[in-house]
Amino acid sequence: MIKITPISKVMGAEITGISLVGTTDEDTKSCLRKALLDYQVLVIREQNLTPELQVNFSCIWGKLETPSNIKYTTKETSKVMILSNEIRPDGSAVGVVDGGDFWHSDSSHIEVPSMITILQSVQNPKRGGDTEFCNMTAVYESLPNDLKMKIEGHYGIHHVSKVKNKRVTISPDRPGAKDFYENQAKMRPAVIQPLVLTHPETRQKSLYCSPRFTIGIQGMSEEEADPILDALFARITDRNRSFHYRHKYKENDLVLWDNRCVCHRAVGGYGLPDIRRMHRTVVAGISAYTTRIHSPI
Ligand SMILES: [Fe+2]
Repeated sequence: MIKITPISKVMGAEITGISLVGTTDEDTKSCLRKALLDYQVLVIREQNLTPELQVNFSCIWGKLETPSNIKYTTKETSKVMILSNEIRPDGSAVGVVDGGDFWHSDSSHIEVPSMITILQSVQNPKRGGDTEFCNMTAVYESLPNDLKMKIEGHYGIHHVSKVKNKRVTISPDRPGAKDFYENQAKMRPAVIQPLVLTHPETRQKSLYCSPRFTIGIQGMSEEEADPILDALFARITDRNRSFHYRHKYKENDLVLWDNRCVCHRAVGGYGLPDIRRMHRTVVAGISAYTTRIHSPI
């Protein structure tokens, strides 16, 4: 029997009484789909999926993205990306080391952003390694009317490269990261995304921007856009945590969230020899949410 229990007052539900090994029946699929729309973040306990089984489960939500950095995928399947701080004896990283260290919605920097992200907890550190989630629908609803009016109908400029973003820093723990981001600054275009996103299924409005990927507002000078972005980001990073749920992983947690109305970040707080390893699959968006490629900046 599937049991769905709210995990915080803000967002998120714990799912128990379910095994995702094998075929997921239609009743279970619709139950999970409704739960994700209702709670934005699902924590499915006691799953220990192999990379192949994780792909099988992930496919019930839609078409999967292929990770852009293929060298950090599992040997079983290139659809599963490894997030890990483990470093091999030759100095190379086993997976992405500093993934998600600033608030963001996955892949808002590409034309069709990620829809759902799924993390299988493989190895938890003794301390740290939590993921924080921010309810972007609640953030939008909390905005004062004048700020809502300033952003309505406007588009944020999103870029993947950290060297283009004055609000973030590059982790010194990730081998080759500076070269990686400098290359991306040259090779990848910026895209624009609506600052207010209407969820295609629930029709609820959410704020859709992030300190990690949003570097400007289309049609505004830096002087004009910065105070607006700073005000929006202050809500997302609100220290009172009024919009946040912080997830502390238990062994074999499978966690998924809806990037269309949720921002998240990896909190960190662990270090070698303590290892954190997650396996990530990502369900692609099914259509652009009105995104367009921005002219080079
Ligand atoms: Fe992420």
